[in-house]
Amino acid sequence: MSDRRKFIKLGVAGTAALVTGCVGKNEEAAGDPKGAGGTSAQAKGAIVLSTWDHGMPANAKAWSVLQGGGSVLDAVEQGVGVIESDFSNRSVGLGGMPDRDGHVTLDACIQDHEGRAGAVAFVQRFEHPISIARAVMERTPHVMLVGAGAERWAQENGFSPRDVDIPEVRKAWTEWLKKGEYVPVANVENHDTIGMVAMDAQGRLAGSCTTSGMAFKVHGRVGDSPIIGAGLFVDGEVGAACATGVGELVIRNAGSHTVVELMRAGWDPTDACREAVQRILRKLPDPSGMQVGFLALRKDGSYGGWSVFNGFNYAVRFTEQEALVDAGHELKLP
Ligand code: GLY
Repeated sequence: MSDRRKFIKLGVAGTAALVTGCVGKNEEAAGDPKGAGGTSAQAKGAIVLSTWDHGMPANAKAWSVLQGGGSVLDAVEQGVGVIESDFSNRSVGLGGMPDRDGHVTLDACIQDHEGRAGAVAFVQRFEHPISIARAVMERTPHVMLVGAGAERWAQENGFSPRDVDIPEVRKAWTEWLKKGEYVPVANVENHDTIGMVAMDAQGRLAGSCTTSGMAFKVHGRVGDSPIIGAGLFVDGEVGAACATGVGELVIRNAGSHTVVELMRAGWDPTDACREAVQRILRKLPDPSGMQVGFLALRKDGSYGGWSVFNGFNYAVRFTEQEALVDAGHELKLP
């Protein structure tokens, strides 16, 4: 279902140059094993998928939760919770990069196979926004709480705030303040948000997504990660998808919802992710620095991912496999 078309490719100095064709499924990924690069693969039974290489320890935790008889919702909560607690991670949790005012603000959401959903956005000083998101889902009639209200509700519901001061992060912010420029950078460093989608052996799906958001964002900015349909979407009848990268692009295109709806219409997970990436690019005159990646799981166990630029990978775990897979991509970084 993916068509061939012209794409903008970044030149050496970041200038846009027109090239024909695309880097992707039928070219660069040709010959890759199933599930690597640009083709979907299929798992039998339970499966866990997470964005980036920090998905490996996250998947390991989620997998152990499933093996221990926990629910798939427990698995996606506790899986990404491992990364939230890793204060050496600069894109998730309290170790993440601050906004331009020096505050680390966190966004997260969670969704189950019945379509129940919970989210928090713009919360500070909580180690596990994903668990607050789950509590919002389970204990309130709402989907999303934000900012001071979310923080107050969290404290009233048993979550304790904490202060984490990381000299390296403070130093990076102080350095950034010297120029104060905000330029999104295509991420090839194997992180930026963790999104997880999973299915248990009975075919129940769930997903989670958590982030500290873009480094040096405007105070109050919320990205795609806590927004159901953007950073994450789960439909128990069809499948699940999550996103990583420049959140504004994902929100504008209802990214994860788009991927799931394409799968509902019969698209293969990799092709669905690719189409969502292509829709973003069609409306983006200059993609410089604009990395976005999608990861999708269909209810039949097939899965795949696709990104704007090379560099996006995802972790996969099922009975026969534990691997880090390079996703296919439209554009190649110089
Ligand atoms: N995808 C993370 C963000 O834009 O905040």
